[in-house]
Amino acid sequence: MTIRLIPQISDLRRELDAARSEGKQVGFVPTMGYLHDGHASLMRAARADNDLVVASIFVNPLQFGANEDLSSYPRDLERDTELSAMAGVDVLFTPTVEEMYPNGAVMTSVSVNELSTRWEGATRPSHFAGMATVVTKLFWIVGACRAYFGEKDYQQLTIIRRFTADLSIPVEVVGCPIVRADDGLALSSRNTYLSPEERKAATVLNRALRAAAAVIEDGETDPEVVMETMAGLVDAEPLANLDYAAVVDPETLVVPERIPPVCRLLIAAQVGRPRLLDNLGVTAPGGAQ
Ligand code: PAF
Repeated sequence: MTIRLIPQISDLRRELDAARSEGKQVGFVPTMGYLHDGHASLMRAARADNDLVVASIFVNPLQFGANEDLSSYPRDLERDTELSAMAGVDVLFTPTVEEMYPNGAVMTSVSVNELSTRWEGATRPSHFAGMATVVTKLFWIVGACRAYFGEKDYQQLTIIRRFTADLSIPVEVVGCPIVRADDGLALSSRNTYLSPEERKAATVLNRALRAAAAVIEDGETDPEVVMETMAGLVDAEPLANLDYAAVVDPETLVVPERIPPVCRLLIAAQVGRPRLLDNLGVTAPGGAQ
């Protein structure tokens, strides 16, 4: 079956309601386009688990701050359509900003209080409310489905899981593993902004995570020691400017007093133009898998 592009909300709803009434399970992959292998892996996971796969491409203005890259955010619909078709997507939802926000300024906002203020939220104060608002809207447009998100944006995934549960939205949120380049850099649409030297320097994020994981696996129980390990490695890389390097509880995203049996390492740094994020799940010695 060839991929179909649907820009109108009403057409998409009609199509997906009809599929569900025939007993079909819908899989959904929300994206902002400029797709890479990480997105393709979400699409393939959705293809494997569902009868009909819809992906959306929408660069959501609400989740960009005033000084961020909304106008220059990379876009390539033709390439995105090909990649989506190859990964098994049936329908690409491609709304305009006017279709999504017909009343112009949006007065309604979904905010997930405590999870949204720390880490990424500290640097990008309106980002998570903009993201949660559009994802809620997309869930409402697509309807009951399984929705696939990468673990690369771990705080985003945690927030999406939380508001989906808090608001009893009939969507099963599926988290999928980070896809990395051979040298460990997590794939991201914003990697395209990196110069060749910055691209090399950017691998420090993953190296710092792996070094910190080894420290925990060796039995370290003090979060400060683990966080200093990551910070020290990033500080030694002249092209990287550390924003945060933290070890957190995987659900609350709070730094614990002692390393718990299962934790998440979070890291963010500016490397040239883009702010890059990465994270890693770690099991301490004796912790449950
Ligand atoms: O992760 C993204 O690409 C975006 O934040 C999302 C989830 C598609 C919402 O705009």
